Amino acid sequence: MTEIKATNITWHEGHVGREERAALLKQKGATLWFTGLSGSGKSTLAFTLEHALVQSGRLAYVLDGDNIRHGLNKNLGFSAEDREENIRRIGEVAKLFADCNVITMTSFISPYRKDRDAVRALHEAAQLPFIEIYLATPIETCEQRDPKGLYKKARAGEIKNFTGIDDPYEIPLKPELTIDTTNTTPQQATVQILEFLEKHKIIY
Ligand code: ADX
Repeated sequence: MTEIKATNITWHEGHVGREERAALLKQKGATLWFTGLSGSGKSTLAFTLEHALVQSGRLAYVLDGDNIRHGLNKNLGFSAEDREENIRRIGEVAKLFADCNVITMTSFISPYRKDRDAVRALHEAAQLPFIEIYLATPIETCEQRDPKGLYKKARAGEIKNFTGIDDPYEIPLKPELTIDTTNTTPQQATVQILEFLEKHKIIY
């Protein structure tokens, strides 16, 4: 748990509630947390889903690991501590987006269970839906795809602490959804997620 460093700060309550914003947007916010190995299909799926949601008139936004590491989290690397901070920050940002009633998708390896569970707890405390989507694509498939050539580099010892090679990935114990993209297209997986969201009244 990161402690609050600042002293003499006071919470200031706003005048506009979540319900008022929901009525304005005609939707409620939620965080869809994609987790899985590099190359498992997180970003492809999140961006396909974002497209489908926006085309059906819903405001959706993807917070993508590689993209966020170009800006907000550019000062973080891949040590366990930096990955923890990466996930903590993005968990807080996702919570703010969801509070604004945006359907928010995050695409981060997020390899540590305790870090993901902390984000889940953050959402539960704020009464915001948190849906963990585990991309269970096996490492063999990810390594065969190797879209950025990183597995090859990691195998050659040119990248240290690469998730799945010489760094851990702790699989989710109770994800809301599990998808293996080896033989599933992003479109098929998108339909599967949309059905889940409708069934659980996340979208309506
Ligand atoms: S996380 O572990 O902190 O959640 P994040 O999703 O932000 O990782 O970033 C992972 C991306 O960074 C990968 O998709 C890959 O492109 C790149 N990357 C570079 N070095 C590593 C590494 N050592 N382990 C995993 N991914 C890495």
